[in-house]
Amino acid sequence: MRKNTAAPSISASEITPKAVYLSRRDFIKSAGLLAGISALAACGIRAEAVGEPPDANPAKPAADEPTPYYSITGYNNYYEFSTDKESVAPLSQGFSTDPWSVEVGGLVHKPGTFPLEELLEFEQVDRAYRLRCVEGWSMVIPWQGFELGRLIAAVEPMTSARYVRFTALMDSDQMPGQRNTLFPWPYNEGLRLDEAYHSLTLIATSLYGEPLPNQNGAPLRLVVPWKYGFKSIKAIVRIDLTEEQPPTLWNTIAPHEYGFYANVNPFVDHPRWSQASERRIGELTRRPTLLFNGYEAEVASMYSDMDLSVDY
Ligand code: MTE
Repeated sequence: MRKNTAAPSISASEITPKAVYLSRRDFIKSAGLLAGISALAACGIRAEAVGEPPDANPAKPAADEPTPYYSITGYNNYYEFSTDKESVAPLSQGFSTDPWSVEVGGLVHKPGTFPLEELLEFEQVDRAYRLRCVEGWSMVIPWQGFELGRLIAAVEPMTSARYVRFTALMDSDQMPGQRNTLFPWPYNEGLRLDEAYHSLTLIATSLYGEPLPNQNGAPLRLVVPWKYGFKSIKAIVRIDLTEEQPPTLWNTIAPHEYGFYANVNPFVDHPRWSQASERRIGELTRRPTLLFNGYEAEVASMYSDMDLSVDY
């Protein structure tokens, strides 16, 4: 059964048009923004983040220019396939996601292996979320999936569990990027247990009403809308509850650049660029970045005893 709980509400006009979402590369190229891309950056479009200051009047509608469907496959961050965003799509087309299952274990009373079909039996919901990349661009994406909390509750965490560790598939036969030894494979990510239980935290299985394309993380990925995009780990095969904060790929590679929490915060700059503003894909001017990506009312209480400039 599908429940429409796009909380908090995002107006239809704010949703990045599908054609625009699918044509990020075309847009970025046409805006002349490809220069200066860092090969090793957790969202790639570094030039986006060093552009002009926020627009004085940011609330302009997104340009809605129809783009061919093939553009969706043209620009993705998925280092298991390639660090070259243009190569991810072609390299991922033959990627096999059937059969797929997720092993859930660690500090739980009922560990188990969940086939994808079983996960799809959790109540499926529609969620239109803003996605803010750490590198300074953003989108609004209508996802479909289930609340992660449902799965966590099903395995009955022990009282000692405080964190959740996510592990993506390790399969260098299918994922040629994993032969790149610069990265500590497999890709992994983590959340605090209360963050994982938060009703906004989603395991996405579709977007725009269609099964996730391989390059977007098929068959299932995490979406945490108040955190930078690199937390949204794709192709999850394992989830463990732990007592200690788990290591994560980007935090391991560059701890001062990519914090464990990675909460969107316009007041805490990345060491190499400001986080005060962002470019909504499809728009030509920048808009101010919102604390917790605009989900402050829903999530800020989880961090009330933390100094966000220290635990970033
Ligand atoms: N998940 C895995 N397994 N591997 C990755 O390289 N890249 C992350 C995140 N999830 C990544 C991943 C980064 S840096 C971003 S910005 C988003 O996926 C990009 O998601 P998208 O391609 O759907 O926009």
